[in-house]
Amino acid sequence: MSERKKINIGLMGLGVIGSGVARVLIGKADAIAQQVGCPVILKRAVDCDISKKKSSQIPARIFTADPYQLLHDPEIDIVIEVIGGDTDALEYMKEALSRGKHVVTANKEAISKHGPELLSLAADHKVGIRHEASVGGGIPIISPFKQDLLANKVSAIRAIINGTTNYIVTRMATENADFATVLKQAQELGYAEANPANDIEGVDAVYKLAILATLAFRTAIYPEDIYREGISRLGSRDFRYAKELGYAIKLLAIAKEENHYVQVRVHPALIPEDQLLAKVDGVFNAIEVEGDLTGKVIFYGRGAGPQPTSSAIVADVIQIAQNIKLGLPPKPQPQPSRIKNLTTTSQIVTRYYMRLTIADRPNVLAQIAKVLGDNLISIASAIQKEADESAQTAEIVLMTHLAQESAVQQAIREIEALPVVKEIGNLIRVED
Ligand code: HSE
Repeated sequence: MSERKKINIGLMGLGVIGSGVARVLIGKADAIAQQVGCPVILKRAVDCDISKKKSSQIPARIFTADPYQLLHDPEIDIVIEVIGGDTDALEYMKEALSRGKHVVTANKEAISKHGPELLSLAADHKVGIRHEASVGGGIPIISPFKQDLLANKVSAIRAIINGTTNYIVTRMATENADFATVLKQAQELGYAEANPANDIEGVDAVYKLAILATLAFRTAIYPEDIYREGISRLGSRDFRYAKELGYAIKLLAIAKEENHYVQVRVHPALIPEDQLLAKVDGVFNAIEVEGDLTGKVIFYGRGAGPQPTSSAIVADVIQIAQNIKLGLPPKPQPQPSRIKNLTTTSQIVTRYYMRLTIADRPNVLAQIAKVLGDNLISIASAIQKEADESAQTAEIVLMTHLAQESAVQQAIREIEALPVVKEIGNLIRVED
C-alpha cells in the first residue's frame, strides 16, 4: 500500500458549529498534521445557504452549495456532518459511508434514531463512523464508554445533558423568576433557540440519553423508548420549596439497569443539594456514570458551543486520520440490538414531591393522607406553605417515601377528584 501523503476532509454544514470546525482545522493544521503524520486538508465545505461562503470565513475556493460535489469527490477521505436532523443529513451520511468515506458527526438525532443502521453500513464498507460531539459537546463521554469504562458493568447514568434547560432552571432557582420570563431572556441572550421546544420539552436530552444508554447497557435504546417530561410546568415556587427541603431541581436524564431491566427517562427531578449534580449550573453539562468497578465518576464541562464541539469533532477526525495514515482498518464496533427488557414508566419506584392547593379548613389533610395510604404511599414529610386567606386556600408540599409510579398516578387522580383539592400544582420525582 502506498504511503498516504495527505488526508482530505469534506465538511457538510457551515453554521455556527461547522464554521468553528473549519477554523480549528485550518488554524491548528500544523499541530494536527504532526499528530497524524501527514497534512489533514479541509478540501471542500458545503452549505446550501450561499451566504455561508462569506460568513463562515472559509477560503472561498473550497465552498460549494452542492453536497454531491463533496460526496462524489473520490479524494475526500473523511466527511464531517454538522447539518443536523435526520432527513438530508442522514442521507448524506449514508451516501458518504456507501462510497467508502469515514464519517464524523455531531448529529444526536440521526445517531439516536439510526445508529445501528449507520454502524452496519460503515462496517459493510470498511469505514468508521464517530460521534463524540453528539452528546455533551466538548465533554469526552462516548470514547470513555467505548474504551476506558469497558471493564465495568454500568448500573446507572444520571445526566444533565441539555445546557438550555439547565441555564433556565438555574436562573429560576437563583432569581425566583418564572419560566416564561427566564425563557424569553434566554432567547434574547442566544442561550435558547427561537423555537425552544426541542430543548425545553426534553427531546434533545432524550436523543442524547438514547445514545448513552445504548453504549452503557450494550442494548439498543431508541428515543421512543424513553419517558419524557420537559421543564415548562416548573414554577418558581417549586424551586423555593425544594431549596427549603434541601434540594435543587434539574432536568435529569436517567438510565438504570436492575436485574436485566433497563429504565430510561428524562424529567425534572429533585436532587439533594449536597450531590455534585445539584451544583451543575448554567449552561454546563455533567454525566454521572456508576460502574461496578469505578463507582461513580462524573464528566463535567461545556456541553455546547463551537469550540467545545469542535474539540470533539476534530479529535474524532484525528483518530480516523491516524488509522488511515497507518493503513489500519477502523476498529470493529459492536452493533447493538435489543437484548434487554425495558421497565415501563408505571413500574418505576422512586420518591415524589407533590405540591397541592387545597381548601384551608379542618380534615383536608386527613382526606389526602387517606388516599395516599390507600394506595400504599407513605408520606415522609408534609409542610403547609402559603395560605390565601381571601380564597380560603392553602398550599401544601408532600414528600413521599419510595412509591411505585402507577400507585402515585392513581393517587393523584383520586386526590384531584376530592372537592377540597383546588389544584395539583406539580408532581416531581426525587433522585436521592
Ligand atoms: N441545544 C443543546 C443544549 C446544545 O441546549 O444543550 C446542543 O446539543
